[in-house]
Amino acid sequence: MTNFDKTDLIYVRELGIDDISPVYHLGEQLFTSDLYPYLYRTWDEWEVIGLYNTDPEYCLVAETDGELAGFILGTIITKASWTYGYILWLAVNPQFQRRGVADKLVDKVVARMIEDGARFMLVDTDPTNTPALKFFNRKGFGNIRQHIFLSMNLSKHEHYGRLIDYEHQKAERAGYRRTRPAIRARKPDGIANEVLLNPLVGENQTTDE
Ligand SMILES: CC(C)(COP(=O)(O)OP(=O)(O)OC[C@H]1O[C@@H](n2cnc3c(N)ncnc32)[C@H](O)[C@@H]1OP(=O)(O)O)[C@@H](O)C(=O)NCCC(=O)NCCS
Repeated sequence: MTNFDKTDLIYVRELGIDDISPVYHLGEQLFTSDLYPYLYRTWDEWEVIGLYNTDPEYCLVAETDGELAGFILGTIITKASWTYGYILWLAVNPQFQRRGVADKLVDKVVARMIEDGARFMLVDTDPTNTPALKFFNRKGFGNIRQHIFLSMNLSKHEHYGRLIDYEHQKAERAGYRRTRPAIRARKPDGIANEVLLNPLVGENQTTDE
């Protein structure tokens, strides 16, 4: 696909099983370590498979002429008095960018989340991701909070490093290697935890429920 104009039909539908691989590869192409170190760190095929299983109604793809133009993966978080829609991943094929694809994907997922009770939306991205920040600002997202991401190499830590050595030795003695856990952790819990959410809502929003 090379010639695309704004009048071409952007078709948004639910992500199907055959979309998992192309969606993963599009994300891999876009969430690169040099541009977005934090996004890259957490993007893998389990993100797509996991959300496809748990939140299929908030996993949408956009296509045009049968080609994957972009995708959005989200979830809903329900707390005592509020329901939050959370956009976890959004990506548009560079060939189709600046043509309203993300706009359509976000509108559709937000409409579904509203239908399911959401009255507040969350999204997060790397602070240097200017296109995404401009995009979300234009969509009405604001109240930006910087989120500090800390990391630690456990092998190099005095205490945890010893625990790792101990685990290795234990595994060798038992003649097995521990496999990766079947359920993977989601992208940032940080922004989505109650400690942050409550002040976010409390500041300048009121509930209509
Ligand atoms: C951010 C992203 C999803 C936007 O997708 P898109 O389909 O190009 O966005 P739209 O065409 O709907 O853009 C609507 C508006 O957003 C803003 N915008 C989008 N891309 C922009 C860019 N590169 N620079 C500046 N503003 C931009 C503009 O205001 C644009 O309106 P305009 O084209 O009339 O100026 C896309 O750039 C992308 O996939 N980026 C890489 C992945 C990513 O960072 N995802 C978000 C974090 S999970």
